Amino acid sequence: MPAVVVVGAQWGDEGKGKVTDYLAAQADYVVRYQGGSNAGHTVVADGHTFRLHLLPAGIVHPGTQCVIGNGVVVDPLMLCRELAEVQSHGLSPRLWISDRAHVVMPYHRVLDRLEEEQRGDGRIGTTGLGIGPTYVDKVGRSGIRMAEFVDPDLFRQRLQAVLPLKNRLLQGVYGHPGFTVEAIVDELAEAARTLKPYVTDTSLLLNEALAAGQKVLLEGANGTLLDIDHGTYPFVTSSNASAGGAAAGAGIGPTRISRVIGVVKAYTTRVGAGPFPTELDNEVGAWIRERGREYGTTTGRPRRCGWFDAVLVRHAVRVSGIDLLAVTLLDVLSGLPKIPVCVGYRYRGQEVSGFPATLEALQGCEPVFEELPGWEEDLGSVRSWEQMPVNARHYVERLAELVGVPLGLVSVGPAREQTILCQELF
Ligand code: GDP
Ligand code: IMO
Ligand code: MG
Repeated sequence: MPAVVVVGAQWGDEGKGKVTDYLAAQADYVVRYQGGSNAGHTVVADGHTFRLHLLPAGIVHPGTQCVIGNGVVVDPLMLCRELAEVQSHGLSPRLWISDRAHVVMPYHRVLDRLEEEQRGDGRIGTTGLGIGPTYVDKVGRSGIRMAEFVDPDLFRQRLQAVLPLKNRLLQGVYGHPGFTVEAIVDELAEAARTLKPYVTDTSLLLNEALAAGQKVLLEGANGTLLDIDHGTYPFVTSSNASAGGAAAGAGIGPTRISRVIGVVKAYTTRVGAGPFPTELDNEVGAWIRERGREYGTTTGRPRRCGWFDAVLVRHAVRVSGIDLLAVTLLDVLSGLPKIPVCVGYRYRGQEVSGFPATLEALQGCEPVFEELPGWEEDLGSVRSWEQMPVNARHYVERLAELVGVPLGLVSVGPAREQTILCQELF
């Protein structure tokens, strides 16, 4: 099997870190292909909880090579901090960073915050980590890439070329004092030296690995509904978080990808602003938040919680070409007598086909629910399909049926062993 994608099929935090770590045991390479430190991927291994933002979730497996692909935006200071953290746990970083990946600069972080303030009530609720402004500069052709960043002369030249315009924007529009080349170089010089040995042509590396028959796992960040094209625009992130981003963001051809695993929670969550048709802005939502410990891995913000929405997951299945489903956090729903699942939307009395493109249409959609019987049993110690309470089994089978994709695995807790494999995934 050549390359397999693990992609979030909701609004992020679906448990991609857990699923990637679980599969990474069989992978030669684990690759992040987009996003940046806005991602927070939790891996629970050997009694320790790792919260990864830029490092691929394969880092916890001693035999797995990890790649930060060209489609990722790299915050050098955060990456150095993460490397130091995993090293303090005795892990050696078998890491490669694409020479073409763009670098998050201090002015990108400042711009992210200032733009959010400017949006006022219309703010997106970004992570404030400079992700959007870095991708804006990438597409606007005034970004700085890793290959330039780790070469002191080139880095200075690029900053001299791009900083005057950034300062005009910061000073003229936002009244910010701006930045000097010297201050940025001073702040980042040590990180550039630390990261230099890891920087290489990762496209070449991955294509050679694939040609040699090695297994490559592509780890999506954020989620398909946060994708810049296919998400709930403008309440999205600034990259192609759907599986389509994997080929471009890793530098491999789409012909190399043989399978896409879509990760979904057994319910729905969202952090930040934007439409959420099945949101439970009530005590049931609060109950799910506490049981699922639904607080952001990156920002600590409480996540908004709601019922499973088969309409939006079907949209994710289409745009990401998902062919197997990994359902996580099923254990959180134990104790509910009945569990509603959204099976369709109605707009002005009509059934909606597809997923609405405008916020106005989405806000006008009424979810149509089907109620499934709940279960009382704690699922944390369930290790096989046979041990699964029958209603929990029917619930998860119904989700798969509603979204039209077979089950690949079911997760009943954060730890590796709390995983029920339904078929070989990798
Ligand atoms: P990611 O961004 O998609 O990797 O997801 P996050 O790590 O941000 O959030 C998922 C959270 O749920 C983390 O705290 C995980 O440890 C936890 N988690 C993952 N799978 C399960 C599960 O099946 N049950 C429970 N209770 N927690 C889980
Ligand atoms: P993982 O990989 C959940 C959300 C932010 C905000 C919007 C834009 O852990 O699933 P950005 O900083 O990217 O410009 O913010 O996208 N967001 C996420 N929500 N999980 C994530 O990543 C997210 N990455 C971005 O909350 O609403
Ligand atoms: Mg997360």
